[in-house]
Amino acid sequence: MAHRQVNPADVTLRPWTLSDAEALMRLGDDRDIWLNLRDRFPHPFTAPAADLWLAEHIDDHDVMTWSQKSFAIWWRDELTGGVHLERRENVHRICADLTFWVGRPFWGRGIARAAVRAATAFAFDVLLGLERVQTFVFDWTVESTGVPEGPGYAEAARVLEHAGYTLEGRLRHYALKGGQYGDALLYARLKSASAPSTARARPR
Ligand SMILES: CC(C)(COP(=O)(O)OP(=O)(O)OC[C@H]1O[C@@H](n2cnc3c(N)ncnc32)[C@H](O)[C@@H]1OP(=O)(O)O)[C@@H](O)C(=O)NCCC(=O)NCCS
Repeated sequence: MAHRQVNPADVTLRPWTLSDAEALMRLGDDRDIWLNLRDRFPHPFTAPAADLWLAEHIDDHDVMTWSQKSFAIWWRDELTGGVHLERRENVHRICADLTFWVGRPFWGRGIARAAVRAATAFAFDVLLGLERVQTFVFDWTVESTGVPEGPGYAEAARVLEHAGYTLEGRLRHYALKGGQYGDALLYARLKSASAPSTARARPR
């Protein structure tokens, strides 16, 4: 890459604050980022959308009762993106969905890699009761959709692989954005990466 890689120690996860609105709008107003995230990430990212988004993502859930945890990604003294953990329910409550994004000016410097590693460590070391963190990487490439569209999924896949996630499969037509179906690549990491498969175990 042309960019210099950042020192991972300079990448920190911080709770969102109202003062992040301007940077959030500036970095988040990007169709290629929106295309790869769930619909709660708005496009266009207007001032009212930023206020609404922050109101939903500044939370005070503690580590016992959490249902979602959202962090701003900072590199030194700059806000660069966001990372989000959302707990599944019922028998899936041992699992959290991870989503992440980095603003375009900061792409290719290893910021997502450092942030995903930090968020995964937070999920397993601080949040209680999680056994699994998973991510759905959308595939909008021509092979998936039949239409050449948007950025590839390779960067996100690389980030996850660097953070110890394993590709578990392709979910066909698992996302709808802009009137178009996309596949999703399911990546997951278990708390105990060496945990034996329970595929043949029967519940008592
Ligand atoms: C995916 C995304 C988070 C990557 O952020 P990033 O900070 O640039 O990621 P990193 O620099 O840590 O790693 C990117 C990897 O892609 C590679 N890459 C290739 N071309 C690249 C490009 N044009 N820009 C950035 N990275 C590129 C990098 O080399 C790196 O791989 P490597 O570590 O093996 O060299 C960012 O592109 C983004 O926000 N995309 C939209 C949202 C999204 O797809 N989120 C993931 C799904 S939840």
